[in-house]
Amino acid sequence: MTSMENLRSQFLEYLQQKVTLTEPAGLYDPVHYILQLGGKRLRPLMTLMSAQMYGAPVTSAMDAAVAVEVFHNFTLLHDDIMDAADLRRGQATVHKKWDVNTGILSGDAMMIMAYQQFLSYEPKTFYDLNKLFSKTALEVCEGQQYDVDFETRDDVTVDEYLLMIKLKTSVLVGCALQMGAIIAQKDIVEQEKIYNYGIELGMAFQLMDDYLDAFGDPETFGKEVGGDIRENKKTYLYLKSIDNKDFAAELKDLFAQDYRSLTDQEIEDKKARAKELFVNSGGANRTLEAIEDYTQKALKTVESLDMEKEHKTILKKFSQDLTSRIS
Ligand code: IPE
Ligand code: IPE
Ligand code: MG
Ligand code: MG
Ligand code: MG
Repeated sequence: MTSMENLRSQFLEYLQQKVTLTEPAGLYDPVHYILQLGGKRLRPLMTLMSAQMYGAPVTSAMDAAVAVEVFHNFTLLHDDIMDAADLRRGQATVHKKWDVNTGILSGDAMMIMAYQQFLSYEPKTFYDLNKLFSKTALEVCEGQQYDVDFETRDDVTVDEYLLMIKLKTSVLVGCALQMGAIIAQKDIVEQEKIYNYGIELGMAFQLMDDYLDAFGDPETFGKEVGGDIRENKKTYLYLKSIDNKDFAAELKDLFAQDYRSLTDQEIEDKKARAKELFVNSGGANRTLEAIEDYTQKALKTVESLDMEKEHKTILKKFSQDLTSRIS
């Protein structure tokens, strides 16, 4: 089994070889910018690990790994426009560095480039990868729409939130892992097992993303701390905090304010107060508990996978690192 660091560097080298278009610069410069801005490269690593753990050579999974990373970065370009986010991986977002139209079109190009990666697979694998990827991509759009719809709703339930994060985040994690299983020609039962592991891991991952959005260290987080509060995102932190009746009224008031009618100072005050209420209401701790619950579920699912014990140990360590991350 290749080490994680080795897999990551092999992937980065391959990515650079695959994404070479340069003209017109207005279209492709932002593509290179976002792809070279760093990021944890979790999803392509999952595709590579899954393929290798199921017995396929790493090289056979490289194109699918590029597809998932390019697609993920495309969603980030559009997500940052939708979330009015100025900062990504510690640098200016594409629509800030260029403009919104650039973010839209370069994002579109990236989605197409993602699909092109599957062309190197033989027909059966091509069909299976394409089918899974298309279903997943549409679900991500559905999740993103719910996420935006919830900003202006005051009656979002925990179940609705959980469905929303499953769609916007977990399905792509599941897809990344299942693609490795498809390439290694595992049967559908096994494919679904590793997909489900990805769903559980993805839930823990997005809950942690929401937690870090409020409580992350601005030095390491790489995004605007408190951006979800500014945008009135109905995260688990918020929903569990308003479950506590002593805190519901003030939080609901706070999360009905549109940041476009607030001064910068008022936005900072809103963030500070919301964070205080998340802690004092117990919402922050409930969120950490939920992260732990989903992580435990994911670890249990790893046990049921049809792979060597040594590989399961690596996947478990990977899962735990991912949900105790700081960025
Ligand atoms: C950010 O994903 C978007 C979410 C689904 C939370 P990552 O945290 O994997 O972003 P990078 O690629 O490492 O920057
Ligand atoms: C991201 O959710 C989901 C997708 C990009 C599809 P967030 O909006 O929470 O992601 P970040 O925090 O901006 O990375
Ligand atoms: Mg965002
Ligand atoms: Mg978003
Ligand atoms: Mg986030």
